[in-house]
Amino acid sequence: MEKSREEWGSKLGFILAAIGSAVGLGNIWRFPYVVYSNGGGAFLIPYFFAIFTAGIPLLILEYGMGHKFRGSTPLAIAKANKRWEWLGWWPIINAGIILTYYSMILSWAIKYLTLSFNKGWGSDTNKYFYNDLLKLSSSPFQFGSIIVPILIGITLIWIVNWIICYKGIKGGIEKLSKVLLPTLLIIMIIIVIKGLTLKGASLGLNTLFTPNWQQVKEPKVWIAAYGQVFFSLSIATGIMMTYSSYLPEKTDINNSAFMTAFANCGFEFLSAIGVFAILGFMATNQGVPIDEVVSGGIGLAFIAFPKVFSIMGSWGNVLSVLFFSCLVFAGLTSAVSLVEAISSAIIDKTQWERKKVVSAICIGGFIMSIAFATQAGLYLLDIMDNFINNYGIVVIGLLEAILVGWIIKPKTIREHTNSVSYYKIGKWWDIIVQYVTPIILTFMLVKSFITEVHKPYGGYNLPALMVYGWGIILIGIVGSIVISKKTWKQNIKSNNG
Ligand code: ALA
Repeated sequence: MEKSREEWGSKLGFILAAIGSAVGLGNIWRFPYVVYSNGGGAFLIPYFFAIFTAGIPLLILEYGMGHKFRGSTPLAIAKANKRWEWLGWWPIINAGIILTYYSMILSWAIKYLTLSFNKGWGSDTNKYFYNDLLKLSSSPFQFGSIIVPILIGITLIWIVNWIICYKGIKGGIEKLSKVLLPTLLIIMIIIVIKGLTLKGASLGLNTLFTPNWQQVKEPKVWIAAYGQVFFSLSIATGIMMTYSSYLPEKTDINNSAFMTAFANCGFEFLSAIGVFAILGFMATNQGVPIDEVVSGGIGLAFIAFPKVFSIMGSWGNVLSVLFFSCLVFAGLTSAVSLVEAISSAIIDKTQWERKKVVSAICIGGFIMSIAFATQAGLYLLDIMDNFINNYGIVVIGLLEAILVGWIIKPKTIREHTNSVSYYKIGKWWDIIVQYVTPIILTFMLVKSFITEVHKPYGGYNLPALMVYGWGIILIGIVGSIVISKKTWKQNIKSNNG
């Protein structure tokens, strides 16, 4: 028997939860360095192109599917077309994998938050991060021992995930988002205002926004833009269909999609401005060019920033506490959305109690996350994040566009979203879903694959890329096919098969 579906308490609750899912580590930790390493200001062209040709159209698609078919991602897809059910499970498996490394980054943020009060990272932040904290081993297969502070952080994150998702949609996720999202915005505004008043801020902003046109011609920059937009908007990770399935019947879906996208994008810019203003200050203060203070992705938040805070005096302590709280808050609302995507799918399939499902997922997720508390954790994160983003998520986005564009037909979804929305979308959306998104994503995937074959990611050896990279893509595909063969414990009326 089908249980009645939980609902958000209000539309605002849904919007805040959806923005809370979108705004995450991707905005604060990932976006600034991705912009910087992919052509600065020039990156904004592929970035906006990606938002309009894939981000917003796919967000409408996912909201529309979840709302029309009233189900978690696999249920909504199975109801639309039973043969494609597996495509609903793949993002769920990916969400599980993302969660394992997401909880590790969050545990670093918690550790840094505790260190903020006395700048406990010392004077050599690079050494502190890699040697003292992570005790990084020399290869992805050398796990070494468990690092206790990381394990404690990971445990905390899973406990919070468990408490929030255990309480359900209205009592857990909605409440958490209503508290954390406004807090996050206030903290970020304080960071940005303080950042902009620092000496050298304009140097940072010039670096961020000065275009390197040469780089826009590079396919890798375009791939990075799409990868960033997908990850950041929580697309193709099973979240947005699930969240919209908890909306009441009458609700403005189209408008919600635009609001989510613009809020996420706005937050992304806000954090990039804050981050680069502060880095500009550091470069000026130390009399070095800014590219010497900007290190790679992970390093930016956990190496460059602590260094900046150290040279800032007491304001450094304040900013440090604010910055790492921001990372923790933003990451938490995204982490619970990933847990919810998985829980909802399993609840729909098995009809088990939410409490039982959430508990099992959190225990299982915690156990898997332990691998990231080892001395090889950083390598696993690096490889998995690259493969999940560049292949997993983008391929799922492409297949969703093909499914809706060519099998379900865009008109079916567009007529549904228009029937409940105040703002109506036109036929342009059909064209994008049917042609533009699939063509661009296919082209990019092919390019990305060719690059990967010629120049394996990150200089890792083949076995590491096979196991942690291609291996998890394979697990996603095979796992989703296997799960899709199991019967639903509820009657699902599928349009096909
Ligand atoms: N959308 C989430 C983020 O940006 C996953 O981190």
